[in-house]
Amino acid sequence: MKTIKNITCIGAGYVGGPSMSVFAEKCPNINFTLVDKNEEKINSWNGNIDNLPIYEPGLKEIIKKTRGKNLFFSNDIDNAIINSDIIFIAVNTPTIKEGPGAGFGADLKYIINCAEHIAKIAKSDKIIVEKSTVPIKTAEKLEQIFSKKNSSVNFEILSNPEFLAEGTAIEDLRNPDRVLIGGNKSASGQNAVNILADIYSKWVSKEKIITTNLWSSELSKLASNAMLAQRISSINSLSAICDKSGADIKEVSKAIGLDHRIGKYFLNPSVGFGGSCFQKDILNLVYLCKTYGLDEVAEYWHQVVKMNNYQKSRFSNKIIQKLGQDLNNKIITLFGWSFKKDTNDSRESASIFVAINLLNRGAKINVYDPQTSIEIIQSDIKEYSSNYSNILDSIKYINDPYKAVIGSSCVGILTEWDEFISLNWKEIKRIMIDEKFIIDGRYILKNIEEEKITYL
Ligand code: NAD
Ligand code: UGA
Repeated sequence: MKTIKNITCIGAGYVGGPSMSVFAEKCPNINFTLVDKNEEKINSWNGNIDNLPIYEPGLKEIIKKTRGKNLFFSNDIDNAIINSDIIFIAVNTPTIKEGPGAGFGADLKYIINCAEHIAKIAKSDKIIVEKSTVPIKTAEKLEQIFSKKNSSVNFEILSNPEFLAEGTAIEDLRNPDRVLIGGNKSASGQNAVNILADIYSKWVSKEKIITTNLWSSELSKLASNAMLAQRISSINSLSAICDKSGADIKEVSKAIGLDHRIGKYFLNPSVGFGGSCFQKDILNLVYLCKTYGLDEVAEYWHQVVKMNNYQKSRFSNKIIQKLGQDLNNKIITLFGWSFKKDTNDSRESASIFVAINLLNRGAKINVYDPQTSIEIIQSDIKEYSSNYSNILDSIKYINDPYKAVIGSSCVGILTEWDEFISLNWKEIKRIMIDEKFIIDGRYILKNIEEEKITYL
């Protein structure tokens, strides 16, 4: 088997950054180069260790050990491609905005750009690894690009989807439940699968490294995310019944989860799942089902996203019911902007949708979150609201939870940051004005009995 010396990853984001860091930590004899078209991002990966482009527990400690030794961040994409035996593609695959598939399908333009660029530059054989989440048969599209644009080099395509979750990325990468590698059944396809499996085997036990055909691997990633999100929508739908009936969703969730066939994970009720992937991946699955003429299957999965949207509206509506339709002159404080705790990522965070809904009714919003900033908040509002110019001035970031609630009629908890649990809620209530309405969309204050808290 060929000895691998150099590996490149295109896309230095939430997947590329942590995954190549752990590869570098576990494989000291291989050089890993992360490249990105965003020069500023690469500069900050190379800059102050306390100011890396993403926040992930444990990440900076690995970077301290490996950066400049066998982990490199570079803007020189061409050289990285030329010098590598294996190229991971970890670029974004957002939902298509316009044209066929708009609102559902995955936009593969960034992946296609990478393939075209590699085809143009490569002078020796390469293993190309799909790390990004992609629809079934993407590998076929890539194969067509490579054979059309560069027939003198052999490109072997593998699917190796990433299952890390943000906030626990380093632990997930060091100790994955499984590593999935899909490849062609040909001899050179299987050889490429073995090369990648051998690299993972430096720290992952053999029985956790699963090899499949390309299409099973591509579909398994979408299916895993769909199944996880489906559990959240299921528990959130039950939270709506609890709200009407007097049952307690935390008690119901515990009772369900103790059945070992169901299990306790991913049964935490919430304001709805956020993050850059669950919604886009399910919509992508819906689109795939429709292209295969499976309309009933498409509708089944679409319902998971619809339930998630319902849950976000239910949260805002509870505030509106309590404070009135006209929120002019009311201050509402949101605790939590990121889509889950322990990350600075706010893509598709429920907070954005709740904030826009309330701002559109005239509310003033104060936000406190340990990992956000006014720049991130404003850029999120701009991205998700066409009315942003009228509402942007009404939202503030206040970097102190007690100052953030001054003058507030309502505090809403949207992210389950641990520090929110240990706040002095009596003091917060004292500082607030009027109705003093606290609504916990994450059910994290359930044990603070003496406080009157509303749950979703
Ligand atoms: P990201 O937006 O954080 O990073 C993607 C990076 O790719 C960006 O920095 C962008 O500048 C760069 N890029 C795009 N096109 C490029 C090109 N042609 N050349 C060089 N750089 C280019 O995205 P992410 O969150 O890391 O997700 C990447 C993929 O991994 C997506 O398909 C996503 O679904 C999947 N995924 C994400 C997670 C997660 O937790 N974020 C987990 C598993 C899988
Ligand atoms: C998710 C998957 O867990 C990863 O396996 C996958 O690799 C990744 O998507 C991806 O493909 O991007 P991530 O979105 O980072 O990871 O985080 P999760 O822990 O799955 O949380 C997603 C959302 O669901 C968050 O808003 C979280 O708060 C919410 N959630 C999670 C709940 O509301 N209830 C739960 O019980 C669990």
